[in-house]
Amino acid sequence: MSALVTYFTAESGRTAKVAKELAEITGADLFEIVPEKIYSKADLNWMNPMARCNREHALKKNVPVASKVEDFAKYDVVYIGFPIWYGCAPNVVNTFCSAYDWIGKKVCLFATSGGSGIGKSDEKLMPYVKGAEIVDARLIKSAEDLKAFRK
Ligand SMILES: Cc1cc2nc3c(=O)[nH]c(=O)nc-3n(C[C@H](O)[C@H](O)[C@H](O)COP(=O)(O)O)c2cc1C
Repeated sequence: MSALVTYFTAESGRTAKVAKELAEITGADLFEIVPEKIYSKADLNWMNPMARCNREHALKKNVPVASKVEDFAKYDVVYIGFPIWYGCAPNVVNTFCSAYDWIGKKVCLFATSGGSGIGKSDEKLMPYVKGAEIVDARLIKSAEDLKAFRK
């Protein structure tokens, strides 16, 4: 069985830290979802209605990804990690997922947040991972949460 941990991180690297620990525990490969245009601090300022993050969210924009996973077909289990944005996965994660064939794969979602739960992230991501089974989705706040995560 072959596993891949993919993740997006933007603000402080919190999700990256969790992703790296998860890859270590599971022995999975690791792939960072990097947008073609990296988010600046101003881009992430959700207090400003005109900030990039708010515009992308309001307009449901695609956010192009800089690179692709090599030989994606070989993975049976794919973990997808992200910071919660507006209650679910950021648009760049949707764009990332749209580029692959998910049929038959098991998908586990993990997230970090400023306080919200993982909410309906799984339902909202479903259309972008068609044919996959989402077997787990949870917010990771501690090492214990990570250990309890389905692997
Ligand atoms: C545009 C934007 C929207 C966010 N929306 C939420 C939210 O709806 N709920 C929440 O708890 N945190 C929200 N956050 C906070 C992030 O989820 C949190 O800081 C996360 O752990 C950052 O992870 P990172 O350092 O890997 O980017 C938001 C942050 C940004 C930049």
